[in-house]
Amino acid sequence: MTVVSDKAAELIERDPALPDHFLVLERRESFGDYARDYGDTIAEHYENRGVIVVPHVPIRFDLKFFQGLEFPPEMKKIGTANGLERSVVRRDDRKLTVDAEHPLVALFGNMSMAAYVQAQIASFDGQLRTGLAQLFPHYCSLAEGNITWRLTETVQEGLHLDVFDGGRPLSPHLKSLHRVKVFINIDAEPRRWRTSRDLPQLLGTCRDVLPAELPDDLNVLNDVLDKLGVLEDQPCHKVAYPTMSGVIVNAEVVAHEVVYGKRMVAAEFICGRHDMLDPTRHTHAALAGWLKQAGYRTASDAAAFAARYAKLRGSYQKIREARGT
Ligand SMILES: [Fe+2]
Repeated sequence: MTVVSDKAAELIERDPALPDHFLVLERRESFGDYARDYGDTIAEHYENRGVIVVPHVPIRFDLKFFQGLEFPPEMKKIGTANGLERSVVRRDDRKLTVDAEHPLVALFGNMSMAAYVQAQIASFDGQLRTGLAQLFPHYCSLAEGNITWRLTETVQEGLHLDVFDGGRPLSPHLKSLHRVKVFINIDAEPRRWRTSRDLPQLLGTCRDVLPAELPDDLNVLNDVLDKLGVLEDQPCHKVAYPTMSGVIVNAEVVAHEVVYGKRMVAAEFICGRHDMLDPTRHTHAALAGWLKQAGYRTASDAAAFAARYAKLRGSYQKIREARGT
């Protein structure tokens, strides 16, 4: 294994068998400084299926306090979509009451604690929203999907491409959206990841072990690639990103794995394809071409294709079963 001697050497161990897909930014103290100094390079690298490492995410909040918090495993991916950020106080006309259904009230059973954590989360998320708009100024339709607060230990989840909704076919609306994903380590320890080939590279490399016909549906395809185990033996770069550093990568199209991590904020945003610097790089628009280029026929019915593999287990499930968890 060659360790490249640059400023990122502490963070990244590159595998020479793979293209170097990292863009490591120099530390800046505000999102505006990153935006001014890097301009469109950030969105361009993202759309090219690269991995952007942000050495310091300039968000102010009570980091020390959060490094003492842990959510139970059943709250592993709780986020704004679950009401994590909404006020813990509910107003009915002129009456203010504690919202007993708020996930933080239910978790802590303590109003002061729930209110403090909620306020910190809301502040962090607000800074992140503003910051992302600065880092991706062309994405005018950028909208939030979810910001999850993963204050739960993750150990070896299996190399994968992100899958949603159990690997069901995507709706035309979801296929029209470009996904922006950001991962920020808020733990005291570095978060350790492996990253590997992107989807078009995987389709080429795995041509001989995959069916000759594959669906033009990213979600179904990613789920089946995982179930067929073709990602298990892929070479990988290693990344260890420290406290308050972040990784920006389109995890639906770049293979990745959390090897170890305890506390992270993961933000998922979406924007219209037309806002991309290069809409032809839109994952869902490009997939048919990637399949053709790698020599696959396109399966006509994505749902029927998914049903064929429905009973197979995914890598994460296999790992958990092997661990007995
Ligand atoms: Fe993932």
